[in-house]
Amino acid sequence: MKASPVLSDDFFESLGSSVDRIERAETLPPLCYTDSAFYEFEKEAVFNHEWLCVGRESWVKNPGDYFTSSIVGEPVLVVRTRDGELKVMSSVCQHRAMLVAEGSGNARGFVCPYHHWTYALDGTLVNAPAMDKTCDFDKSKFRLPLLKAEVWQGFVFINFDPDAPPLAPRLKAVADVLKPYDFVHTEGPRPGPAGKYPWNWKVMFENNNDGYHANKLHQGALHDFVPSALARFPDLPEDTAGYFRWNGTKHADASFNATQKALLPVFPKLDEAGRNQMIFANVPPTLSLVLTADVIIYLILRADGPESLEMDTGVLLAPGAMSDPGYEHKMAMNMAAAEIIMAQDWHVDGLVQVGLRSRFAQRGRYSWQEGAQHDFNGWLVPRYLAGWQRMHRKSKSH
Ligand code: FES
Ligand SMILES: [Fe+2]
Repeated sequence: MKASPVLSDDFFESLGSSVDRIERAETLPPLCYTDSAFYEFEKEAVFNHEWLCVGRESWVKNPGDYFTSSIVGEPVLVVRTRDGELKVMSSVCQHRAMLVAEGSGNARGFVCPYHHWTYALDGTLVNAPAMDKTCDFDKSKFRLPLLKAEVWQGFVFINFDPDAPPLAPRLKAVADVLKPYDFVHTEGPRPGPAGKYPWNWKVMFENNNDGYHANKLHQGALHDFVPSALARFPDLPEDTAGYFRWNGTKHADASFNATQKALLPVFPKLDEAGRNQMIFANVPPTLSLVLTADVIIYLILRADGPESLEMDTGVLLAPGAMSDPGYEHKMAMNMAAAEIIMAQDWHVDGLVQVGLRSRFAQRGRYSWQEGAQHDFNGWLVPRYLAGWQRMHRKSKSH
């Protein structure tokens, strides 16, 4: 990697102030959100070793079902094989790198459109036309590379690091608070095409993660019943791979729509306390969850450049919600509110990215209501420092 003023011991030492006590902590340096050398560093330090969410397992229920996705520029293919196994592999053809699949669907195998090399659902190469004169060509040496995969709460996570430890044991604290939502039995429509956003993935993540702006940016009837002042932050185990905050609501069964109340069935296992709060949970660097009384909103963030990301936005509902005769109309009411709230967020995200590029951007300070940003720093900074050390060790050994 070429030298950058950002990639120096001084720079990484300066990150320590972002994980100081929240009363003293500073935000990350603006260059972490804008600099392309830092993004390349981050790909290695974070994305090459962490579990990355790419979708829901329910999107590939039947043998032959598949969907494609991509993260940090790596196109991937998620498939249900004939044997019912979930496999995740690179979609890059091992002939001349065409992508063997796009979008989603059901297939018997994958025929690369370019020269018709044909791969079985498990990624093995089963046919390669007119290769009979090619010396030492051995089909079994060419297969779509498999990636490590793990399903957590019905979300498919992948890992580019074959030695990565499993994810679930480090998400126990988060899984415990999600239990009453019973993710395994939720239902929900398949999200539409991913949106593309011209800002750094952390700008988006921190926005999802932020309770401080709730009744400021979103001031008004669609959000005031979830005030910032009712945010509570738990103590979490040091090695947690995700975190969450509770946010009390001013009335029971609150939900984001013009009535301020759940329109769809409330998750049946929520107790009294659960019905008087929302939960905002995050599994960096890709998954954000907003849990209301009747709707779970999930956001799958897929970084694809220093100043851009793609994001899938979906909802999960209590069992039976989609059979309600008024389902579509009620969902439309939820979506109408969500669109207004998201437009406010995205307006800010775009302008924050502009601000971060400015010579006048500096490292800010936190309110106590930004506990989740501080948790995010606590997740990021050790990974940055470990990545920097790994890289140093490598460059010194050359
Ligand atoms: S690139 Fe796929 S068959 Fe040639
Ligand atoms: Fe917001």
